[in-house]
Amino acid sequence: MTGAFPQPGACPRAQSAGDYPQRGARPRLDEGETLLAENQFVQHVAMGEVHVLRLANPPVNTLRTEIRAGLYDGMKAARAAGAKAVVIIGTGRMFCAGAEMTEFGKPRVPPSLTEVFEEFESFPGLTVAAIHGSALGGGLEVALACHARVALADANLGLPEVKRGFVPGAGGTQRLPRLIGPEAALKIIVSGDPIKATEAHKLGFIDAVIDGDLEAGAIAFARANLGKNFTLARNRTDKITGQDMAAFDAAAAALLKRSRGQESPKGCVEAVRASFTLPFEEGLQKERDLFASLVAGEQSKALRHIFFGEREAQRVPGLAADTQVLPVGRLVVIGGGTMGGGIAMSAANFGVPVTIVEMTEDALAKGLQRCEANWQRTVASGRLSQAEYEKRRALLSGSTDFEKTVGEADLVIEAVFENMDVKKQVFARLDKAARPGIVLASNTSTLDIDQIASATSRPEWVMGMHFFSPANVMRLLENVRGSKTNAVAIATATEFGKKIGKLPVLVGNCDGFVGNRMTGKRTPQVEKLLLEGCLPQDIDRVMEGYGMAMGPLATGDLAGLDIGAAVRKARGTVAPIADAVVAAGRFGQKTSKGWYMYDEKRNRLPDPEVESIILDVAEKMQVRRRKIEADEILERLLLPMVNEGARILEEGIASRPIDIDVIFTNGFGWPAWRGGPMFWADTQGLKAVRDKLNQYAEATGDKNLRPAALIEKLADEGGSFAAMGKSKV
Ligand code: NAI
Repeated sequence: MTGAFPQPGACPRAQSAGDYPQRGARPRLDEGETLLAENQFVQHVAMGEVHVLRLANPPVNTLRTEIRAGLYDGMKAARAAGAKAVVIIGTGRMFCAGAEMTEFGKPRVPPSLTEVFEEFESFPGLTVAAIHGSALGGGLEVALACHARVALADANLGLPEVKRGFVPGAGGTQRLPRLIGPEAALKIIVSGDPIKATEAHKLGFIDAVIDGDLEAGAIAFARANLGKNFTLARNRTDKITGQDMAAFDAAAAALLKRSRGQESPKGCVEAVRASFTLPFEEGLQKERDLFASLVAGEQSKALRHIFFGEREAQRVPGLAADTQVLPVGRLVVIGGGTMGGGIAMSAANFGVPVTIVEMTEDALAKGLQRCEANWQRTVASGRLSQAEYEKRRALLSGSTDFEKTVGEADLVIEAVFENMDVKKQVFARLDKAARPGIVLASNTSTLDIDQIASATSRPEWVMGMHFFSPANVMRLLENVRGSKTNAVAIATATEFGKKIGKLPVLVGNCDGFVGNRMTGKRTPQVEKLLLEGCLPQDIDRVMEGYGMAMGPLATGDLAGLDIGAAVRKARGTVAPIADAVVAAGRFGQKTSKGWYMYDEKRNRLPDPEVESIILDVAEKMQVRRRKIEADEILERLLLPMVNEGARILEEGIASRPIDIDVIFTNGFGWPAWRGGPMFWADTQGLKAVRDKLNQYAEATGDKNLRPAALIEKLADEGGSFAAMGKSKV
């Protein structure tokens, strides 16, 4: 990054994207510019009757106190100097990414954004926001409080607050509906997704799209419009009068369907509704009240925990910042099945040339066709252009010549059958064929990385790169460190994962790594709950009600129940009910029946045959079934995972509790607004977690539920996972 900083004396202009002014460095002024003030974060320049306020809080110009003060003072000074127009512009990468979240929960230092906006809106001339890069959250709200907004065509505009668990808090829910109508505004505010300036221009909240030099364009726009009457958003009524309440409620209900259980989207609806049912000032107050209550709530804490956690989890503890990262010009994937194809697509999706190696021409053709069909479905749905598809397809090739192809690889990811002998054979061949000093990774979901590495003469270059299915969609990547894996391999796998759109989390080597190992501990309780009184739909209803994308039994049907049965057989374990279901030929969705029956549209339906299998087994085992409450179901499924998570931390398989939470919210359908299993445990209190674990261990005879030493220790100390010190992988 440092190379991107201009030397002191260089002028920090917005259009030189990526360049940041040195804090406190005196900028060079262009001819005709007069520097009026500089508070280190906001530079105030006069160009005759047009003044410019340049935001400079790298890297994303968040609205920290000094920025707010700079804008406030700048507006007052511009007014005192008789300016006719003020342009507000960002320097560096973007206009402004929004509020400074690290200031949340701390005593408020004036001026507030509301006070800044009062200066904008009472200014006797014209205020113009000039947007490049992104204007998000509070950043967009700054722009909405101006008289006019201009932007580069590719600028992103959005109000992502809903994704952090609250509503926009500086007038966004009141001003945007007044500019584009409540329904259009609601769509943007409830989704939290940004839109391009060109679309915003069509909707009507960007006044002009600028080509070329943004600052010059914005100044020209201001000069051309001096003296013209721009109605401030707060004073506009044309888009909100006569709003059809029923139509709004119907649109809101449709939008809320996608966010069941979540509070912030409902808050957004309430705030936007206030834009046309209440006068502006009362609407603002309503928005402020909603913001205050949501930001203090559990869901917002959870979402912020995950938001910051995702950044933290990608930083590998103990890895020196200057560790070499090897360039990957060509990826080679061994095996073009379900996972190999998805991994190859991920690489091509992000511009990396990739070759799939298969055993036969037939298997290769099938593998490549699956990738093509997958992309073409996206084209048909309108989410991918034909041109982009062709670009991606051209990056993907296939071969059956193992040695030659592997010889050209900069990184190899193996995704052949899950069998140790097969994997060892493949790695012995890789060892001979691959250039020295490249990473050889396995996508195994359960096998011992060290054993795989032992088939090579270079175990220091062998590691796991565990993708999740469907690999071209799922963001999580568990990178698995073997006992000999070197730092360059880890750094390379981390950076490569980021490059192809994944969220890499480094974990240690053990059966199931982090995610599968933890969910595996839930399975015995599922079996016991079915035996003691539940039906599959009771369990899934509770878990989906909690917010999981899919309950454990429906997930089993999707993955195939025969897989679990094969694992039990290999390990010599039994699960009487699950075994009986598989014995009845019910393998899940692929046989149209498993824990449920499925109609031709793959809708799942409770099946009386499953109920009678369950009742039969319970009778044979002389278990008296009882009604089991939702709380008990939830606790008996979450507590074993938390307990195993604690053991994973004790063993150093995961570096930090947040790594576990990020794994679950990105790879296991755990809703981010619930914060993940370790966050959940903290909300229960670790003393309560310990007591409940003991209670269920006693009641169910499952020794595995005895509290992990780490939980005992934290409970004794009154500690929490959040406050725990960092351990090493
Ligand atoms: P799959 O059976 O769909 O594909 C395996 C492919 O590897 C087949 O096309 C086969 O022809 C090919 N193959 C086998 N030996 C080969 C060799 N010597 N050279 C070249 N190609 C060879 O299996 P899937 O589901 O893609 O799994 C692959 C790996 O990914 C396994 O280790 C599995 O545990 C792991 N995994 C699977 C996940 C899943 O949900 N299916 C999730 C995460 C990991």
